[in-house]
Amino acid sequence: MRMYDIIRHKRDGMALSPKEIAFFIRGFTDGSIPDYQASALLMAIFLRGMNPEETAILTDCMAKSGDIVDLSSIPGIKVDKHSTGGVGDKTSLIIGPIVAACNVPVAKMSGRGLGHTGGTVDKLESIPGLRTAVDRVEFFRIVKEAGIAIIGQSGNIAPADKMLYALRDVTGTVEHLSLIASSIMSKKLAAGSDAILLDVKTGSGAFMKTLEDSIALAQAMVDIGNRNNRDTVALITDMDTPLGHAIGNSLEVIEAVETLQGKGPVDLTAVCLELAANMLVLAQQGSLEECRHLARQAIAGGEAFQRLVAMAKAQGGDVSVLKDTERFPKAPMAVCLKAGRDGYLRHINTEACGIASVVLGAGRARKEDEIDHSAGIILRKKPGEQVWEGEILAQLHTAREEQLPEAMELLREAIEVGNAPPAPVPMLYARVTADGVEVL
Ligand code: URA
Repeated sequence: MRMYDIIRHKRDGMALSPKEIAFFIRGFTDGSIPDYQASALLMAIFLRGMNPEETAILTDCMAKSGDIVDLSSIPGIKVDKHSTGGVGDKTSLIIGPIVAACNVPVAKMSGRGLGHTGGTVDKLESIPGLRTAVDRVEFFRIVKEAGIAIIGQSGNIAPADKMLYALRDVTGTVEHLSLIASSIMSKKLAAGSDAILLDVKTGSGAFMKTLEDSIALAQAMVDIGNRNNRDTVALITDMDTPLGHAIGNSLEVIEAVETLQGKGPVDLTAVCLELAANMLVLAQQGSLEECRHLARQAIAGGEAFQRLVAMAKAQGGDVSVLKDTERFPKAPMAVCLKAGRDGYLRHINTEACGIASVVLGAGRARKEDEIDHSAGIILRKKPGEQVWEGEILAQLHTAREEQLPEAMELLREAIEVGNAPPAPVPMLYARVTADGVEVL
């Protein structure tokens, strides 16, 4: 078999055979296929597409290019959850403990912030002392003891994806449905769970800006999961507005604690309960209605919050900050953005809020940048709310005085106040399963 022929097949619009796909992934990963040939194939895939079978095989080969985590020593059905990323998306910190409180083990590997979107690992590390670099033996021990562990991606997970993503990034081939879906799902397949819940975000702060594109991505990923024998379901949830009020690492942990204590924002609570219920269904804990009840009970009875505390303690964190969130280190400056007029908050450009929080220090402009865990934004008003001239729209927390004007300007531009309230936007759009799309 020659890479040259594989490129020509795809260039001419043919479907690649499983052997051709496996040859490409093996050769690219071991270095025998050079970047220029891999780039040519990526562009041919970008232009000609891949059918669902090719996409599922590509994903499987990428997943098997490195370690496959074996979770079989942890009893029960293990369900993983993946979010396509957003701003203020602290759902993993809430859903994981809810699911664990319902006696379903959570053994989760999460990522760091990327661009304008935050990452669970950075958020967790705002709890002083908490370790996310944990080896497999300790990972399994924590899951067995606390019922839940959330750690950084360890080992050699899907190296083919890592190499291909770097190449896609510089060859204009990132934004292709099959390539995005296979990239995300290869890491999920390698992480070893029995079932997968996908939270596909849609709107101005999401990777996919339109509902149509979000549903198409969800369908592609659900299809890949099910073809690879993982029960996979996706929810399409709103990311046209930041989720909850807090953006930034420790600010988001505080909001997650409040939500687990039943005092969280309505939008965040609703999305988390629905995601948790769907995870519980995948873990075969009952019907969706029964699992919604279980999820609500886990918060109301305090067990979900206790699971967060148990996990943080097992991972070396100082849990006094969770029990009394006033103890979290605070940014030295908190500056308010005020409304310039009376009216209604019509829209928040979510991507711009994410960028503003990075400017304040909550994210990284370059890979090697240090994060300031206490930096970020608290949105005091959300779309649909009435505002009065001089009222606080948002609070900016930072240690970087010199960055404040830029962040303030970004946020001022991002928050639109107008004469009339906007049309209400749903939090949950659709549920995508192997059987089709159910509009919620
Ligand atoms: N996230 C991924 O992991 N891969 C993509 O291709 C896009 C987003």
